[in-house]
Amino acid sequence: MRDKIEQVLFSEAQIADRIREMGAQIEADYKDKGGLLLIGVLRGVAVFFGDMMRAIDLPLDIDFMSISSYGSSTRSSGVVRILKDLDENITGRHVVILEDIIDTGLTLSYLVRLLQERRPASLEICTLLDKPSRRLIEVPVKYTGFTIPDQFVVGYGLDYDQKFRNLPFVGVLKPEVYAGK
Ligand code: IMP
Ligand code: MG
Repeated sequence: MRDKIEQVLFSEAQIADRIREMGAQIEADYKDKGGLLLIGVLRGVAVFFGDMMRAIDLPLDIDFMSISSYGSSTRSSGVVRILKDLDENITGRHVVILEDIIDTGLTLSYLVRLLQERRPASLEICTLLDKPSRRLIEVPVKYTGFTIPDQFVVGYGLDYDQKFRNLPFVGVLKPEVYAGK
């Protein structure tokens, strides 16, 4: 897998450091709120979720949603179908949505609208990566790990064609990997 990587953007150590900082920030923001609910959007968030939840030393619940956005593998359309809804009722709760990456913002903006209808006490977004130059619709992101340019990245949960999620770092693929498709 690693031989297909052109460049490592964020190493395991860099990601771990940043997650420790974000965890401390979330702890400070929620310590007086009597707990929080972390929601993960499958599948890309799996790795980040596991690390992030352990960086927050507060009573918290976790829950997951699975959605599919209509569109190609590298571009989303913003039309989202719920494949698995939350198990928890979020009404009156302090919710933080964890995401792997925000690109156009279409997926997340749809999701935020949907979850707001359930009247949580608060709803914030925490993303490992953000590509603001690609944004088509504004989404209010409270916690951002790293801001990146318009580059397709893989690893640490992020996939290309469902592969490369298990790389422990975030990197850019060699062009020949795409050329083979
Ligand atoms: P958007 O913000 O609605 O455009 O879609 C975000 C989703 O697209 C993410 O949750 C990823 O699943 C996928 N995505 C966007 N950019 C990348 C990337 O650089 N690598 C891997 N997946 C990406
Ligand atoms: Mg995703």
